[in-house]
Amino acid sequence: MERSSCLPKCKLARMMGWLQLVLGGLVIVVSIFSLSRFYSAGFFFKNEDLCNHFHTVKEVYGGFDAKALSDRIGEVLEKLENLQNKLESKVQEMEKNNGITLDKNFLDEEVLRPLHTANVALRLIRLPKVEGIRNSTMKEEPLINFFVTEEIRKYITPKENRVGKVNVYGNERVFNTIGHACVLYKKELEEYMDYDIGSYCNDDWNLAQKLMLNGCDPLPRRRCLTRASKVYQKPYPINESLWRIPDDRNVRWGNYQCRNFQCLSSKNPKRGYSKCTGCFEIEKEKLKWVTNSSLAVDFLIKDVLAIKPGEIRIGLDFGIGTGTFAARMREQNVTIISTALNIGAPFNEVIALRGLVPLYVTLDQRLPFFDNTMDLIHSSGFMDGWIDLLLLDFILYDWDRILRPGGLLWIDRFFCKKQDLDDYMYMFLQFRYKKHKWAISPKSKDEVYLSALLEKPPRAI
Ligand SMILES: *[C@@H]1O[C@H](CO)[C@@H](O)[C@H](O)[C@H]1NC(C)=O
Ligand SMILES: *[C@@H]1O[C@H](CO)[C@@H](O)[C@H](O)[C@H]1NC(C)=O
Ligand SMILES: *[C@@H]1O[C@H](CO)[C@@H](O)[C@H](O)[C@H]1NC(C)=O
Ligand SMILES: *[C@@H]1O[C@H](CO)[C@@H](O)[C@H](O)[C@H]1NC(C)=O
Repeated sequence: MERSSCLPKCKLARMMGWLQLVLGGLVIVVSIFSLSRFYSAGFFFKNEDLCNHFHTVKEVYGGFDAKALSDRIGEVLEKLENLQNKLESKVQEMEKNNGITLDKNFLDEEVLRPLHTANVALRLIRLPKVEGIRNSTMKEEPLINFFVTEEIRKYITPKENRVGKVNVYGNERVFNTIGHACVLYKKELEEYMDYDIGSYCNDDWNLAQKLMLNGCDPLPRRRCLTRASKVYQKPYPINESLWRIPDDRNVRWGNYQCRNFQCLSSKNPKRGYSKCTGCFEIEKEKLKWVTNSSLAVDFLIKDVLAIKPGEIRIGLDFGIGTGTFAARMREQNVTIISTALNIGAPFNEVIALRGLVPLYVTLDQRLPFFDNTMDLIHSSGFMDGWIDLLLLDFILYDWDRILRPGGLLWIDRFFCKKQDLDDYMYMFLQFRYKKHKWAISPKSKDEVYLSALLEKPPRAI
């Protein structure tokens, strides 16, 4: 009895012993870190004095016993790993004994996680290579000296392959890229990249999206843990999820005006978004593309698929919405990827929770699909009379690229001012696709809708 009551204390004492060991390990890690930073600091400097400085470093490097360092790192790694194993088994033991949950959390959060991080950090240490693998010399990454934040610099520095290997792509190094407009949003990007490696990220998807929409796209990857809803529930089963608004608890609402799905209703003037109003109301959504409407511009899915029976299998829905088009197409055994941005409402989460695939892309980028691959591109909701003709031209050429010969382009309810219609019509018709359907309906006094179903011709060139 007495022995067992002493047990937690004894454990704590032992734990402290380990902690000291861990701290010792961390000291070593930190010293190795400063060493590696010593090298990287001089690595991209250009001016001659600094070049000389770099040369002295190189000499030191030349005289440095690299094998000893490597052995040393190996040794530390082994120690860390042993420690980690011991600690982990300890945690498991404690878990079995129950009751000491506080200590378990402490071990988990304060000891095991830093240990993991230290382990990873150690493994990431690379001694700089002076020459490339082949005879090529490394060109300086043009943006690297623009940013001060170490994590951004680390991200955009090209990563040399290990031990002189050429990688699976036939390259010597991998480039991590960011959108060039990131340069214009230096302050915001530095805020975005300010975190402790391995800890939780800020709840800042909104900042990230703002950066993306302003052309800082792609964003750098981050090495922090993204937050999730604290009360996340498993999604509804697939036979129910397709036509059901998801559980409020599966969304992080912090950056929206609304705090639940009901609030996103079209009846609520403070819903916080303006495009596709009503698309969080499943009963309304159920009518789209399957019921006759009074407007000639509303084509039905069954009529479209009947043009190419069995041939339409995969496609892209480029628009703003909650995935209803993809849901209807799924019922027809067609796989649709839906683009989505979380502008004012959690569109990405809803599409995913319905069991469909959201693609988080802006208009900034070439689509991540190969040439001649898609059977269908459906576009509704995002393109209307605001879009610049040159931008539209680049987008349409990109769609043409990914659409396969015989694939269908479905422009759904594009709208613009009457007097602009000729310009836009020319844009859509310039590719000389086969016209299956073409309809224009009035939208308001001076606006019109245009819908078109066009087929990409063969390209026998
Ligand atoms: C590298 O350069 C040397 C001479 O400078 C040459 O003999 C060799 O073929 C080159 N190797 C490659 C892979 O280009
Ligand atoms: C969905 O499937 C589960 C089991 O696979 C079943 O219990 C449930 O009733 C189904 N729901 C609906 C709405 O059909
Ligand atoms: C829609 O209209 C067409 C004729 O325009 C008709 O054949 C079809 O049955 C209608 N479908 C529904 C669901 O009302
Ligand atoms: C979809 O595929 C399933 C299974 O192959 C089949 O039973 C069903 O009839 C198909 N639905 C349509 C609309 O083709």
